[in-house]
Amino acid sequence: MQFKPVDTSNFKMNLLRTLLLTPLLLLVPFTGGTLTVAQESPTVSETDSTTKGAPYVPTPHHVARKMLQLGNVTSNDVVYDLGSGDGRIVIMAAKEFGARGVGVEIDSALIQRARRKAREAGVADQVEFRQADLFEVDLRDATVVTLYLWPDMNNRLRPKLRRELSAGDRIVSHSFDIDEWPADTTVSMGKASVAADTKTLFRWTIPDSTSSE
Ligand SMILES: C[S@@+](CC[C@H](N)C(=O)[O-])C[C@H]1O[C@@H](n2cnc3c(N)ncnc32)[C@H](O)[C@@H]1O
Repeated sequence: MQFKPVDTSNFKMNLLRTLLLTPLLLLVPFTGGTLTVAQESPTVSETDSTTKGAPYVPTPHHVARKMLQLGNVTSNDVVYDLGSGDGRIVIMAAKEFGARGVGVEIDSALIQRARRKAREAGVADQVEFRQADLFEVDLRDATVVTLYLWPDMNNRLRPKLRRELSAGDRIVSHSFDIDEWPADTTVSMGKASVAADTKTLFRWTIPDSTSSE
């Protein structure tokens, strides 16, 4: 009996297709059901942060800038980005707004990338990137907190934000709000006709402890 050589080319094509498409499909729910490809270096993190929380989808730079403006960031501020990805929000806060910043990220590869980018941007002495679970990090130093996380993560963070931040501190979230905590400002960016281009930003200000909120 003669063995026929197996043609593996189809299998290889399917494997390649699966490897290429799986990360994109993982991003679909995070972009509101619209398949939006991340703008720069799209990756789903190697340590699979999807099992821990939100996947890595970077905030476009112009949206990051708007978030920092909405948070009234100045050189007096310490900006914490919870789930900081490649560090772009913290790096921009330092470079363009003169603030100090801390990025908290669970994925070690992203931490390394953020530290490299901070050095390249010349702000390594103003920023710090901590590899940690964002629910475990002490936020008492922060004056502005930025978020681009799943809604349930925002909701779980709410008591911690209220406990550890002080009156007048700001929280700015990209895309997702916080249940039963009305934002004091909501901003829509982009073309309403192109759903994938529309970004909603929410800002909360920690009230005075004497306020009824
Ligand atoms: C949607 S990305 C946002 C990245 C960045 N903040 C931005 O706006 O460009 C969410 C990030 O949160 C990180 N992340 C998810 N769960 C986390 C957790 N429990 N602790 C720390 N980082 C987490 C992911 O690895 C990912 O980089």
